Amino acid sequence: MRTLVANGTVVTAAAAGDADVLIDGEHITGVVAPGTVDREGFDRVIDASGRYVIPGGVDMHTHMELPVSGTVSSDTYMSGTIAAAMGGTTTIVDYAGQTRGSTLREGLDTWKRRAEGKAAIDYGFHMMVTDVHAATLDEFADMMHEGVTTFKLFTAYPGVNLSDDRQILEAMQAAASVGATIMMHAENGIAIDALRDQAVERGDTDPINHLLTRPAAMEAEAVHRVAALAEIARCPLVIVHISSRDAFAEAVAARDRGLPVFTETCPQYLWLAVEDVPGGFEGAKFVCSPPLRHRSEGHQAALWAGIASGRMDVVATDHCPFTWEQKEAGRGDFRRIPNGLGVVEHRMDLVYQGVVEGWIPLTRWVEVTSETPAKLSGLYPRKGTIAPGSDADIVIYDPTSSHTISVDTHHMHLDYSVFEGVQIGGAIDTVLLRGAVIVEAGAFVGGVGDGRYLARGTNALVPEAP
Ligand code: URP
Ligand code: ZN
Ligand code: ZN
Repeated sequence: MRTLVANGTVVTAAAAGDADVLIDGEHITGVVAPGTVDREGFDRVIDASGRYVIPGGVDMHTHMELPVSGTVSSDTYMSGTIAAAMGGTTTIVDYAGQTRGSTLREGLDTWKRRAEGKAAIDYGFHMMVTDVHAATLDEFADMMHEGVTTFKLFTAYPGVNLSDDRQILEAMQAAASVGATIMMHAENGIAIDALRDQAVERGDTDPINHLLTRPAAMEAEAVHRVAALAEIARCPLVIVHISSRDAFAEAVAARDRGLPVFTETCPQYLWLAVEDVPGGFEGAKFVCSPPLRHRSEGHQAALWAGIASGRMDVVATDHCPFTWEQKEAGRGDFRRIPNGLGVVEHRMDLVYQGVVEGWIPLTRWVEVTSETPAKLSGLYPRKGTIAPGSDADIVIYDPTSSHTISVDTHHMHLDYSVFEGVQIGGAIDTVLLRGAVIVEAGAFVGGVGDGRYLARGTNALVPEAP
């Protein structure tokens, strides 16, 4: 099948300009001046007049079917990837996980089985490492051969995911020795647990106390500490889901010291704040970790400024939805509320609002949502750009359209939306996955199971050793 995407404004991280995109089978074969190729040679012509033609979104942080807090995140690989596609994301890098007492191999096999035949878009896996000891670290090389080139560690969630400083240092050394990158959940979980227990002892059990007992200083402290450990280990590090200006400043300071420290934030931290959280138990809908911050303290402004300046590398979602019934587990004790929000469908739209507001250029929108996550995840230039040889993952985005986010129209397996009523300027028009149209006219028309596992390469943004 030969496809021509004609008359659009092609936007990559490098430039925006009018061009036609030529597709043969699953790949892009050319990007040419508009009207310079004969339409007769194509099986299908998609007219993109007045619209942006951008690379498919790469969401490098999702959790489909994640077992957590005695339940499982509510989007399956089927529902979650259909929702992602509807929102212009054609690749996710989800998190497989090690269960304490088992191996990384067992974790990867389990997650591959879960996703197999269900995904509507392409997918890879990071590996959450929750049981750091010599045998686990010996498995890093094996995981690299499987295309799992990034390993997540936690300074949070004591007793479940937390690694101590020795474990983190040794895991970073092991990662550096095989060319891997460490993804870090940076919050001081031990101090935070003390604050959480103290709140419950005082009788402060409502969801808002989740947000108030995870202070930004505890996120910043952890970023500072893990950056120092990464410096000793000479290990590339991505600080994931940065929520606060304090933590962001620590990551930037590490990078300014010359360390390969990269930064990721999420739409919820860019747009939502403590001030938006309803009182009473309804606030459970907004419980995630790190938590939402106070708008009045300037966190959102600092994160947007980081996107504009190039110091915030990526906007991913940390998509980890739980239905209202699942959130109910924490009624009477906020510590039992499963952590996470449903965001995967709205990332491209919500970051595009930064363009609408005049805060970032179109090229930066594409860079933080597609090109840089592809580079950090070892998927570039197969994913993340529009260029000859790349997979024909393409989103046609209509800047003249608009819509309102609502539970009534979203596709995530979630019976509410933390973005309910948010007005979006712009809309997804058409989505192609490897040359096949998977979204058109507001409907998913792709195939469940058409998404492929991506064996990933190494982080392309790590400078070569001198
Ligand atoms: O609240 C969150 N972020 N849940 C997902 C798990 C994680 O820590 O990324
Ligand atoms: Zn995390
Ligand atoms: Zn996460």
